[in-house]
Amino acid sequence: MTGILKVDSQRLTVHDLSDIENRSDAVDGQDVIEGLSSQPKFLPPKYFYDQRGSQLFDQICELPEYYPTRTETAILKEFGGAIAQTTGPCEIVELGSGSATKTRFLLNAYQSAGHPLRYLPIDVSETALVESSKQLLLEYSALTIHGLISTYEPALAKLPAAQLPARMICFIGSTIGNLQPHEYSAFLDRMARSLRPKDYFLLGIDLQKEVSVLEAAYNDSRGITAAFNLNMLRHLNYRFDGDFDVDCFAHVACYNQESHQIEMHLESLKAQTVQLKALGLTVRFASGERLLSEISRKFDLEKTAQTLAARHLPVVTTFTDQNRWFGLLLCQRSPDRC
Ligand code: AVI
Repeated sequence: MTGILKVDSQRLTVHDLSDIENRSDAVDGQDVIEGLSSQPKFLPPKYFYDQRGSQLFDQICELPEYYPTRTETAILKEFGGAIAQTTGPCEIVELGSGSATKTRFLLNAYQSAGHPLRYLPIDVSETALVESSKQLLLEYSALTIHGLISTYEPALAKLPAAQLPARMICFIGSTIGNLQPHEYSAFLDRMARSLRPKDYFLLGIDLQKEVSVLEAAYNDSRGITAAFNLNMLRHLNYRFDGDFDVDCFAHVACYNQESHQIEMHLESLKAQTVQLKALGLTVRFASGERLLSEISRKFDLEKTAQTLAARHLPVVTTFTDQNRWFGLLLCQRSPDRC
């Protein structure tokens, strides 16, 4: 077995794949050099998530304007039983499991249905994964957990052999909306390859809606989203010995109606030069120049179902809320055609 087995008890196994990734990854920060040397400039959203960024994101999820988390949670709570009934006994794999708050609604449903409970969380944060797993084991006496500390790609390639008749891979939270279109396609292909025919894929997507609702969700009145966006520059300073002056940038988030996506930028408030010494990089910003820090795509249920069907992942059931603000799609891997 590659990777490091960190914890091994009867009910909890944690498999650390981060050493494999570090060996095979491109040079650290290459993506920062590429993004800041491009025109227009961009940065990969993964740089939001240092410890402070993850805390700020947790706060975003609680904001009155940020409807996705509570809407998806309500859908899981209402329809968890229907999901468990459709899939029958199956292992629950979760990409980006974090604190596994929403997962509990699925586990409750599988427990009520009398199904065995097996959970495979995948997360880059060892602390989040181990802490949440230990807590879940206390709450569910029949649960066994096999966690993978990893980004999505290596984890999907190294999922342990299934111990139950089926498997359901969950990618909830509309994190798929943060992928660029080419990454989105590659991700769905990867998903189809990771599942056996008849296995399930549970996908959470934020849906297209009134622009005012969308823009308010990314421009909250308490400024938490602004702090989250600007924290990316602090993170880069720390990680690559940089000298971004965070006060000289502003948070901007607006909805692009053609691309159906929120675009989050960091706007330079003056002409300035920034250095990232560890990368040997000097970057010039014009006054008013914007750097794209994130896209958050908003989906159409019917079009997404067509895309999924074309990738061998036809939708079996669509769950949504009364406003049709958020969609939870239960897909089932179809056999490949010759
Ligand atoms: C993680 N992801 C689904 C969030 C979103 O809504 O796209 C990230 C986020 N960015 C700003 N607020 C929340």
